[in-house]
Amino acid sequence: QRPPATIVFIFGGSGDLNYRKLTPALYNLFLDNYLPEQFEVVGIGRTQYTDDSFRERLLEGIQEFSRRKNGPEDSWKTFSPHIRYLKLDGGDASAYHLIGDLVSEREAEWNTHANIIFYMSVAPQLVPDIANNLSQLSFCGDKSRVRIVVEKPFGHDLQSARELNALLLTHFAEEQIYRIDHYLGKETVQNLLALRFANTLFEPIWNHNYVEYVQLTAAETVGLEGRGGYYEGSGALRDMIQNHLLQLLCMVAMEPPTSFEADEIRNKKVDVLRAMRRVAPDQVDQVAVRAQYGAGKKGDKESPAYREEEGVNPESMTETFAAVTFFCDNWRWEGTPFYVRTGKHLAEKSSVITVQFRPAPHYAFPNEATKTWQHNCLIISIQPDMNIRLRFQAKRPGQQLALDPVEMEFNYNTAFTEQQPEAYETLLLDVMAGDATLFMRADQVDEAWQIVMPILDHWASQTDPASMPTYAPGSWGPAEADKLIAQQGFSWNNE
Ligand code: BG6
Repeated sequence: QRPPATIVFIFGGSGDLNYRKLTPALYNLFLDNYLPEQFEVVGIGRTQYTDDSFRERLLEGIQEFSRRKNGPEDSWKTFSPHIRYLKLDGGDASAYHLIGDLVSEREAEWNTHANIIFYMSVAPQLVPDIANNLSQLSFCGDKSRVRIVVEKPFGHDLQSARELNALLLTHFAEEQIYRIDHYLGKETVQNLLALRFANTLFEPIWNHNYVEYVQLTAAETVGLEGRGGYYEGSGALRDMIQNHLLQLLCMVAMEPPTSFEADEIRNKKVDVLRAMRRVAPDQVDQVAVRAQYGAGKKGDKESPAYREEEGVNPESMTETFAAVTFFCDNWRWEGTPFYVRTGKHLAEKSSVITVQFRPAPHYAFPNEATKTWQHNCLIISIQPDMNIRLRFQAKRPGQQLALDPVEMEFNYNTAFTEQQPEAYETLLLDVMAGDATLFMRADQVDEAWQIVMPILDHWASQTDPASMPTYAPGSWGPAEADKLIAQQGFSWNNE
């Protein structure tokens, strides 16, 4: 079923996110017939564009970034008239009547009320002003048809996130606010719920009795991609762990939901965050490691050190790599560590969850039968590989008793013929349909900040530039991260 008549206003319409992700996602939804017939996207920005020049620019974005560059003939010609541009300074309260006028015009033409979505694709410091200004529009508080989508970062720390939540909640009801975390829109992430709760096989062993540890890695090969200004004020813990990786952790650790209602799923997830151990300030170095990439070679190219990048302080203390050991203090997970790491300029692009099961209680095989101990685990590849592999020991054929790890694999590309929608397609369609299951509620954001704050505070107190560990670009991060996990006798899964 298609959503009702909809107008999407994208603040920051002339920016990169719209160019690379949002319009390509809307275009793919259009090609798949998910968009309503009465539909308009209005890019809002300060740059000068006509409707036509704006459409031309977005077409370039589609040609570069969309999963489908071309639909059937004429599909761009049919789609592009739905796009408009409105030159407006988000901080200028006196201009907002233009938005109201546009809505009235369209509703008169369509002869129906439209659902209205305000997408905040702008620097976080601009969101409060825009939200305040939007509140002058009489329809803003209409829960049935007006929604606001807020991109990450949601606040810079606990305090600012609380202020932002409070401000949004003065103008909008919680059910109108869609705090986006694009990892939750990924097919492989949504599939975690199917894997765990549509099968009986895994759940009985999905607890501290059988799981020795869980690893969550989000490794990236890219560096700053021209976002030095933003990243310098953020760092790996804020940019990836506070949101994407803690959300993934919730999907792995949550209790079974009784239904797929948005609040039921979100209640179960927030329970995980509430149970996560808050680290004492003097314990941070035992559970968290940070580092920056140094200069080096990536392939044949010289790659500058983080501190030499544009927009970065030469004595910067912003981490481009972070690894943290988390514990979830509840009945299911007591004592099972969750090792989380992420970084820029690492060896591979790969987001992988490894669930390592405990060793057999009595291992009767002779030592020489076992070549490697890398078995007895479930490896869930989120991206770019999309598969789930159950790795276990098997007897190698022959007269000798020799064991080798083998795998049973589910691979998306061979199991299904459908193309995978991009995360933003799923999430935008959910906003249009009013389904907030995959979006963050205020309490989830708050808890996630509470979890990382002691680490951020401790790191902020360490100001000696020489104390920041470095790692070579193209490596798997600093030696300190290996030591972190070696404290319990384990090692990272770098495959
Ligand atoms: C964004 C971060 O939220 O996620 C970026 O701000 C990061 O720094 C990106 O590169 C990673 O997303 P994906 O989908 O490519 O894993």
